[in-house]
Amino acid sequence: MRKKIVAGNWKMNLDLNEGLSLFSEIQEMVQDEVNGEQQVVVCPPYIHLSNLSKLKGKNNKSLFLGAQNAHEEDSGAYTGEVSGSQLSSIGVDYVIIGHSERRAYFGETNEQLAKKIDAVFRNGLLPIYCLGEKKEEREDGSYFKVIETQIIDALFHLDTSDFSKVVLAYEPVWAIGTGLTASPEQAQEVHAYIRKTIAEHYGEDVAELITILYGGSCKPSNAAELFSQKDIDGGLIGGASLNARDFIDIVKVFNP
Ligand code: 13P
Repeated sequence: MRKKIVAGNWKMNLDLNEGLSLFSEIQEMVQDEVNGEQQVVVCPPYIHLSNLSKLKGKNNKSLFLGAQNAHEEDSGAYTGEVSGSQLSSIGVDYVIIGHSERRAYFGETNEQLAKKIDAVFRNGLLPIYCLGEKKEEREDGSYFKVIETQIIDALFHLDTSDFSKVVLAYEPVWAIGTGLTASPEQAQEVHAYIRKTIAEHYGEDVAELITILYGGSCKPSNAAELFSQKDIDGGLIGGASLNARDFIDIVKVFNP
C-alpha cells in the first residue's frame, strides 16, 4: 500500500508565536479528527522546528515535521546554511528538496539536488523531492522531458532501497501561489508519467509503491477530486496550510 501524505509548506511565513499557535491548532485537530492511515507533515521555517518538535512529543503517530531545505554537507563553513545532521538532531522527519522557489531564486540545479538527497538519507531523514515544469514548458510541450530530467538527474543514482523511501511532489510552477490549479486530468497525466519513468528504471513493483504528491493551489474545494486520481497520493500545500481548518480539511479527504 502506498503511503498517503498531506504536507504543509509554510514557506517564509509566521513569526514564532504565530507558528506555535498554528501548530497547536493543527496538532489538536489531527488528534481529534484524523483517524485514517495518512501522514500529516508540517514544514515550517527552520526557526520553528526545535520548538515544534518539543511540542509534538513522540505520541502522535500521524504527525511529522519537515524542513524546507538542507545543505548537502553535514557541517562546515557554509554561513547561513543548515545541515541534515542538524535537522536530524532535533527530531525532524522529512526535508523538502528542490522546491521550484529554491530552483528559481537560489539557482539549485538537479546535480546539486542529487547531493542534497544523499545528505538527507545519510542523516536518516526522508526527502520530499519537488519537480515540475514552468508555464512556457507546459505551453511548448517540453514538460515531459523537463520532468524526466529532474527525476533522472537528482534521483536515479540511488539504490532501490533508498529510492523506495523517496516521496515525490509534482508542483507545476504555473500553479504555485497563482490560484491556477492543474486539472485532475492534467495532474494525473504527469503523475502517471512519473510512475512510468520510475518503472523503467526500478521496475513496476517499486514504481507502484512510490508516493507522489500534487502541489499548486491545492485547497479544500479541489483536493478531493485531485486525490481521487489513480496516481495522486496526497498533496504538498502552500497557502492553504497556513489555516489549520483548511489544512486539516484537505488531510481529511482520506478519511471523510
Ligand atoms: P500553493 O499551495 O500556495 O500554490 O503552494 C504550493 C507549494 O509551493 C507547496 O510547496
